Amino acid sequence: MIRFDKENQIIAIDTKNTTYAMQILRDKYVLHRYFGKKTKDVPLYEERLLQFSPYDAEISRSFSLDAVASELSFFGSGDLRDTGIKIKNRYGNSVTKFIYKSFRTFKGRIPFGDMPYSRNGDETLEITYFDDVSNCRLKSYYTVYYDTDTIVRYVVFENAGKDTLLIENALACQLDFENADFEFVCLAGQYYHERNITAYPLHFGKQSIYSERGHSSANANPFAILKSPAADENSGECYAAEFVYSGDFELQAELMYDKRMRFMAGLNRHTISWNLRGGDSFTTPETILTFSAEGLNGVSRNLHDHLRANVINPKFVYAPRPVVINTWEAVHFNINEDVLLKYADAAAEIGIDMLVVDDGWFGKRNDDTSSLGDWYLNTEKFKNGLESFSEKIHNKGLKLGIWIEPEMINPKSELYSKHPDWALQCPNREKSLWRHQLVLDMSNDEAVTYVANSIIETLKDVKLEYIKWDFNRSLSEVGSLAFDEERQCEIKHRFVLGTYKMHKMLTEAFPDVIFEGCSGGGGRFDAGILFYCPQIWTSDDTDPIERLKIQQGTMTAYPLSAISAHVSNTLINDYEDRPDYDLRFKVALGGVLGYELDITSLSPEEKKEAEKQIRLYKKLSGLILHGDAFRLSGLSDNEYGFYVLSKDGTEYYFEYYNLSDAPVQRLFEIKLRDEKVIIDTSKAVKYSGNKTLYYMFSCSIA
Ligand code: GLA
Repeated sequence: MIRFDKENQIIAIDTKNTTYAMQILRDKYVLHRYFGKKTKDVPLYEERLLQFSPYDAEISRSFSLDAVASELSFFGSGDLRDTGIKIKNRYGNSVTKFIYKSFRTFKGRIPFGDMPYSRNGDETLEITYFDDVSNCRLKSYYTVYYDTDTIVRYVVFENAGKDTLLIENALACQLDFENADFEFVCLAGQYYHERNITAYPLHFGKQSIYSERGHSSANANPFAILKSPAADENSGECYAAEFVYSGDFELQAELMYDKRMRFMAGLNRHTISWNLRGGDSFTTPETILTFSAEGLNGVSRNLHDHLRANVINPKFVYAPRPVVINTWEAVHFNINEDVLLKYADAAAEIGIDMLVVDDGWFGKRNDDTSSLGDWYLNTEKFKNGLESFSEKIHNKGLKLGIWIEPEMINPKSELYSKHPDWALQCPNREKSLWRHQLVLDMSNDEAVTYVANSIIETLKDVKLEYIKWDFNRSLSEVGSLAFDEERQCEIKHRFVLGTYKMHKMLTEAFPDVIFEGCSGGGGRFDAGILFYCPQIWTSDDTDPIERLKIQQGTMTAYPLSAISAHVSNTLINDYEDRPDYDLRFKVALGGVLGYELDITSLSPEEKKEAEKQIRLYKKLSGLILHGDAFRLSGLSDNEYGFYVLSKDGTEYYFEYYNLSDAPVQRLFEIKLRDEKVIIDTSKAVKYSGNKTLYYMFSCSIA
């Protein structure tokens, strides 16, 4: 899997279908040589004279770090492009130059202790570099996942001296291309419009996708594809990178005038830097890299398989997910035991598995102005206690889920009145509110431990099968009263580490509970959260037409089993002037199903329909959890669609939507193991609201 050609000093990493290769030059530099289709022949570095560039006199006038493709790039020492690694030393300058020292390979990988990461791993390459001036060692890791064609990269900095260093840039994943012709494909959006696929040709200079909001965000996702212009959904070369992190990130491509291109991914350089004291080490989050010659679906499939096999908790990843009825969109804060027991009766009648009590069950929370931080039961709403309520729910044959938002604090809360210092804040600066709330200082271990324990205390004796973990605002005035001035530049990363610590505490306290991530809709849909939460709420926008775009984008990077999708009554689109539960349900089949509406008000016909839907969903859930998803190729901007094929090729389901006035005939071929199925979209069903659309569902399961 990892080969070393001693004569040519080539290290090559093979996966099932790809090769990634580098060359050690003169025992000093590690050059990037190849990433693409599997090959035995790695092109060797050829010296070329580069005019007007700094050169390494020890090697030759024709060797310039500015001209070569490198595995990592270092600030201020001859590579004049944007560089990924930068450390400020004791002399006050940030010139950084790591020289290659050695490499080794070993089976498996080194697991992370305090951050999400890809479990398992077949084999790892570790390359060690050293910078004499800063006295810092850098270890760069590449873990191979052979079957999924993925390579996971991260670096560790080790301060081997006594002086404190400041890590200013830590973009641990870099891909240099010699002659780049790509489109940059990313998932952009905003609240209610998360993860829309956005693609544009690379242009001269820098283009990036990033977040500085303190969470991965609805606006940008830590994921990018470099797509060859000729590639489509099913063919052509694509590279993809997914950063396993839930805070500020950047993924950047810089195209040079001569078509060389540098792609880098990692922690956001503007908002995060780190003091590395003598003897200390710092590990960056990891990036999952993949290449496929089978188009956009090829890289998506590799990532889906990787996330399912290595990132999502193995205990839950393939376990049937409960069909939930969530209280939020139907009743908001107006929940109480009596209302919810009626919901439970109606839910049990149609085959729903679980009642999820959303926001409003704790403290004095009757609206969004108070109580975040006060994680004890509101006994006016639940007079007999949560244990007894849960018992009643279970007696009706349902499971129980509950909502929390632990990383936030309302100024109007008991916690804040005791601990105003536990909110993120900067001295002498006003704190911005957002939905009446401040952000808990997750870099403060005392605050994290206190809040986690108070939630554990409230829920520990309750029979509970699901927790929805929300995060309803971005960060502002980021500062912590728990750290001195020097450490304030670390708070955003420390915040994320605190978030992960709390996820670890709660998931360990409730090992049988399935967690669903959420963030004001889908504002923290990333591989970091997936490590703890096997599914994530995709968007507060549950209008089926809007959801098509959001889900089509989300499935580019994440498997369907991660995408939480509910049938609701919240319709914002004028395609809808009457409820069409069939259309809403079909769209919700692009993920794991739930309902979020006043279930007690369904007519007998609607109840029957919902019952039928749930039966069908359960039959399809094996495909949703295990199958390969393919987005349909060659669609116009008005069309959406995908199909899911079981790994053994025996089963499928297919969905197609056309938001125009007239049906379009397209023929899609699904290659089953023993036959080919041709689907003709001119047979799509017409749905007429104020506007018309056509949609189509077909499946192999009776
Ligand atoms: C966010 C979530 C919703 C709901 C509310 C509760 O907006 O995305 O699903 O949980 O918070 O306040």
